[in-house]
Amino acid sequence: MNKDLLSLAELTADELWHLLNVAQELKDEWKGGGNQPILMGKTLGMIFQKPSLRTRVSFEMAMHQLGGHAMYLSPEEIQLGRRESVPDVARVLSRFVDCIMARVFSHKDVQTLAEYSQVPVINGLSDHSHPCQGLGDLLTMMEHKGNLRGLKLAWCGDGNNVLTSLLFGAARLGIDVAVATPIGFEPPSDVLEVAFRFAQENSSEIDIGHNPNDAVRDADVIYTDVWTSMGQEAEKEQRLRLFPPYQVNSTLIANAKPDVIVMHCLPAHRGEEITDEVADGPNSVLWDQAENRMHAQKAVLAVLLANK
Ligand code: CP
Ligand code: NVA
Repeated sequence: MNKDLLSLAELTADELWHLLNVAQELKDEWKGGGNQPILMGKTLGMIFQKPSLRTRVSFEMAMHQLGGHAMYLSPEEIQLGRRESVPDVARVLSRFVDCIMARVFSHKDVQTLAEYSQVPVINGLSDHSHPCQGLGDLLTMMEHKGNLRGLKLAWCGDGNNVLTSLLFGAARLGIDVAVATPIGFEPPSDVLEVAFRFAQENSSEIDIGHNPNDAVRDADVIYTDVWTSMGQEAEKEQRLRLFPPYQVNSTLIANAKPDVIVMHCLPAHRGEEITDEVADGPNSVLWDQAENRMHAQKAVLAVLLANK
């Protein structure tokens, strides 16, 4: 694996499988009474330009459970690129900590941090992608479905950062993906180019369309996310007008397989992209999915910092 984890596209299929297997091992160990302190004495600096519940707490607990320490650095504290240049933040912080996790607006910033940091940098969400979410999600699918190859995942809603990571991970591991977005909200063309290449190499299929009923037909997994991501607030009204046909509700999921699992990276805007009935219903795996962020990130930290 590279020094950093900025995008799931950087990982080979073998590296992805390795991370998922380590995550499963660490989860089993934790469920069985606690993890070995393999990160004793290690510290993680966590830079946030945006709010977070899951990413902050799951990284903090991941470090704690592996015997290390995590430090939260709020948007006001660091003021990435305003109080101090991004390269200087990377130069200084990497003299103090063993690893940096950053949640940024522009993906360029996490790339610059990685370029100037002596220690590994992990992307904790950028406008481009959300690799730690993608890893936790693959772990959740593996647990609930027993295998990944041959599954059909349907995405309903915005062609956003979370979808980008899922496309890279799914295409590498042989999961078929059917996407339904409003016209003009498809994933970026550079993302699709890479995802289609991975899909071709791994015999998986990617279909980019606009009809949610077609996308979810016979799906094993239905995934949705907020219609307006952090940083896109100015487009909220326009998006609220365009996205309602893509809501994941009971009528829509009836077109999928009866044992379909419904996923959402959270936070959810209940009543918009997902109804209460589905989020709290028998097909929902939302809380397992949230928990698995912690186990997946433990695997990333263990591989990057303890050569697991
Ligand atoms: N899914 C996710 O990354 O949640 P947070 O924004 O709360 O970290
Ligand atoms: N797409 C969402 C994910 C939040 C975890 C956002 O970027 O705001």
